[in-house]
Amino acid sequence: MACGFRRSIARQLSRLLDLPPENLIKSISAVPISRKEEVADFQLSVDSLLGNNNDHSRPDVQVQATRLAEKLKCDTVVSEISTGQGTVNFKINRELLTKTVLQQVIKDGSKYGLNSELFSGLPQKKIVVEFSSPNVAKKFHVGHLRSTIIGNFIANLKEALGHQVTRINYLGDWGMQFGLLGTGFQLFGYEEKLQSNPLQHLFERLGVHFDEYSGESFYREKSQEVLKLLDSKGLLQKTIKGTAIVDLSGNGDPSSICTVMRSDGTSLYATRDLAAAIDRMDKYNFDTMIYVTDKGQKKHFQQVFQMLQIMGYDWAERCQHVPFGVVQGMKTRRGEVTFLEDVLNEIRSRMLQNMASIKTTKEVENPQETAERVGLAALIIQDFKGVLLSDYQFSWDRIFQSRGDTGVFLQYTHARLHSLEETFGCGYLNDFNTACLQEPQSVSILQHLLRFDEVLYRSSQDLQPRHIVNYLLTLSHLAGMAHKTLHIKDSPPEVAGARLHLFRAVRSVLANGMKLLGITPLQVFLCCQIQHAPHHNGKSIC
Ligand code: ARG
Repeated sequence: MACGFRRSIARQLSRLLDLPPENLIKSISAVPISRKEEVADFQLSVDSLLGNNNDHSRPDVQVQATRLAEKLKCDTVVSEISTGQGTVNFKINRELLTKTVLQQVIKDGSKYGLNSELFSGLPQKKIVVEFSSPNVAKKFHVGHLRSTIIGNFIANLKEALGHQVTRINYLGDWGMQFGLLGTGFQLFGYEEKLQSNPLQHLFERLGVHFDEYSGESFYREKSQEVLKLLDSKGLLQKTIKGTAIVDLSGNGDPSSICTVMRSDGTSLYATRDLAAAIDRMDKYNFDTMIYVTDKGQKKHFQQVFQMLQIMGYDWAERCQHVPFGVVQGMKTRRGEVTFLEDVLNEIRSRMLQNMASIKTTKEVENPQETAERVGLAALIIQDFKGVLLSDYQFSWDRIFQSRGDTGVFLQYTHARLHSLEETFGCGYLNDFNTACLQEPQSVSILQHLLRFDEVLYRSSQDLQPRHIVNYLLTLSHLAGMAHKTLHIKDSPPEVAGARLHLFRAVRSVLANGMKLLGITPLQVFLCCQIQHAPHHNGKSIC
């Protein structure tokens, strides 16, 4: 995939350079669309081909790019070859591009982009993702909300890529009277307790599920075994206070000392994490284990992984901490918000208020649910737009802007495209005239659809959702512009059919991306003006 175009370009290059096509594929990338100029479809970076760093100014790179371009020939796939800064650029035969991309999007459905040559040969791995992990005796904190949506995204993405994913919610239940998990889940109404709280409610909207609920109290005994093991390996040092420590530096550096036992002999957070990691390795034999928590726990995880390493568990290197930053300024109308239920209530009430304040052309069956879905999409997009590690300033007004780069805009676009299909039907899906989709707006959309696999690839590499978010926002903007000019209603059937096909493909990819992010795409949105978007004051945006 990228519809096989990369492979086809790589084959020609491979003959010329005497390198296997597999080695060339990752140097060929789809060119991001530009508002200013028409761009080629793919580019080969000469630097990455030669394994150099990205310094396009060096003349020899340019010379090599030109030389290479001169030797390459157009064929049935490539219709134009040119050079850019340190790149060789390829334009794909327009009809082939149109047909292949659209057919592939429809044929692959939710798998579009995931069958790409970029992922070929990717071994199927066993991946444990631990996320959410609230402290059950306390109220759920916004940080746990962040962990929940980020962890869910990572698990969704890994699963979509064909890995076997185990989702664990590791509850902070230490110090609760009975150590609820250890003594029996249902017996003490733990599950019930969990179900009645807002996080559970959030899981059900978001479609978040866990394969295992475990908790710190579960590792009471196993922590004692860990302490014995540390002792038997000579790694445990008793202090005069009666506590026990592990000195990770080996030279007494205080910043590398980890306390693993209290003076009364009980375990600490880190000890229980060691026990939990060992237990999970026994149980799941994972290739990778990912922990999603706020960045304040960075040192904790570094130390836990290091301790596993010195205990002789080589698989410690398969453990990874994905840290995220702090959300600042999340306030309700009543004041500072720290708890999840406040956030959910605020989302619902703000969205309902927005919806009520405007004339609607459609009756929404379940306004509460719609409000919540739009609101959660808004929250997730705001959260995923930047680098996860960065702190960010929260703004209710910004997240609800309908035409800004928001989740509201994505939901709105999805519903609007869906209603196009509802209105005009999709009877033309297997047969359409590619010649009807050659306007710049259509070509930009096709070029953008071509890049979806690369964006998925990037996010799978650095576990950052922002690549997908930015991609979907651009896709929605392109769809909005195309919707204005590529009319369906008054166009001849052939043109209308081809356009519908294009819009259907956009909706499908938009839905795929949204689902990966943990957003449920809406089929019906309100024809509404969003109150918090001042530039649309008084006007309907439909
Ligand atoms: N319950 C902890 C907290 O709220 C987070 C647990 C993170 N996971 C772990 N394995 N330590 O801070």
